Amino acid sequence: MNYLIGIDLGTSATKTVLFDEEGRVVCSASKEYPMYQPQNGWAEQRPEDWKEAALETITKVVRESGVDKKSIKGLGISGQMHGLVMLDENNEVIRPSIIWCDQRTAAECEEITEKVGAKRLIEITANPALTGFTASKILWVRNHEPENYARCRHILLPKDYVRLILTGEYATEVSDASGMQLLDVPHRCWSDEVLEKLEIDKSMLARVYESPEVTGTILPEIAALTGLSEKTVVVGGAGDNAAAAVGTGVVTDGRAFTTIGTSGVVFAHSKNVTIDPKGRVHTFCCAVPGCWHVMGVTQGAGLSLQWFRNNFCRDYMERAEKEGRDAYDYINEDVESVPLGANRLIYLPYLMGERTPHLDPDCRGVFFGLSAIHTRKDMLRAVMEGVSYSMKDCNDILKEMGVEVDDMMACGGGGRSAVWRQMLADMYGCTVKTVAAKEGPALGVAILAGVGAGIYESVEAACEKMIHTDKSCDPVPEHTAKYQEYHKIYQNLYTCLKDQYKELAKL
Ligand code: XUL
Repeated sequence: MNYLIGIDLGTSATKTVLFDEEGRVVCSASKEYPMYQPQNGWAEQRPEDWKEAALETITKVVRESGVDKKSIKGLGISGQMHGLVMLDENNEVIRPSIIWCDQRTAAECEEITEKVGAKRLIEITANPALTGFTASKILWVRNHEPENYARCRHILLPKDYVRLILTGEYATEVSDASGMQLLDVPHRCWSDEVLEKLEIDKSMLARVYESPEVTGTILPEIAALTGLSEKTVVVGGAGDNAAAAVGTGVVTDGRAFTTIGTSGVVFAHSKNVTIDPKGRVHTFCCAVPGCWHVMGVTQGAGLSLQWFRNNFCRDYMERAEKEGRDAYDYINEDVESVPLGANRLIYLPYLMGERTPHLDPDCRGVFFGLSAIHTRKDMLRAVMEGVSYSMKDCNDILKEMGVEVDDMMACGGGGRSAVWRQMLADMYGCTVKTVAAKEGPALGVAILAGVGAGIYESVEAACEKMIHTDKSCDPVPEHTAKYQEYHKIYQNLYTCLKDQYKELAKL
């Protein structure tokens, strides 16, 4: 039997999973790390934490599984996108990584739009200038920390930094590179035009591969440390969403998924480059060679519930610890006990600004309609519903662009909640399914590793064989109608508050 490893470098933890070649989980390990928020709207993490988490979890799965290292044929890495890792000439990390949800770069986005031209930027990078994307973060360091910029010799994305540690190679792949705003997305290569206009030296960037291509093998010292074989191939891998698509079988037209992790994403596969001229959703290369995807992103999805849990549900966290359960189990029970509409309470999930549909780094979270009758349970339901309204906004834009979806999967931590899946099915008005394997992105990159190692012929063929659907949840028509009324108010709230968010940001 052959084995494959998938690593998912998430925002809250790195999870490493060892699969057999049929996609069964043999062993998994994860390690958490913090996110630092030095200012309102800023978000950073330490690449050294990612390195440590990857090495520790790889070592654990290799040792605990007891499988022969020679049978671990391939390894794939997936991860949070857009984060900026800057290294000096000795590969030392220059400063903490400014990660995907950081919102400090509004001025740099204007600079990019001015230098490249709004229309040309969308033509080449398939997206307008975005605070979350890497290019504006690079410019921010150049503008605010010139001494750090001067020392920089290599620019990598989070998962590609881990690849460098494992293989010694400076490599990336098309799906994650699409989120840097430096890639020519229709042509799947670095854009000389954008790089020249922004005066970014191409030699600092990694070599671009397709996601299932082999980018290197394990360095001898890493093999000795982790127990891996030096012959294990490391493939391109994919950004977390493109990887989750492979891990849920969303690799052909008509298929889509909603994931609720820290961020929330509605993702649809497309064999053509389809670009939203209004820039509300992203178009990226996907992990299937020669294909793309369109996706809408809610910045504070699972993050909203996690924030609420951490601040207001400490008792649940302590009880869960004692009873060997998960605090979210109690939260799900609470939410189920509250009627649709949370007793007329609406939550706007803009804790870290928003991307789809508003592209606004300054907006922030709101509970609207609070009354003395409300309890924590109502607030929990409002949080889940608010995040789901935002996912519905994403889904509606895909429809408006003519991206046909007839198969919707749910994944991520939120996708495991039955009550959350029902909300999505009710709001979208379509059936929402899950896959049997819960390892979305890790399984996705393990599948890519299997293709790179020659075990499978193609990504599509591997998915056909390895992905099995599990639960299915149908919409309740009365719920769909009721949610529409709330959704209208939800949408109007942003319009009413838009200018006030700007005023607040100035204080
Ligand atoms: C996608 C995005 C997030 C991050 C973190 O554009 O910013 O999904 O990849 O999960």
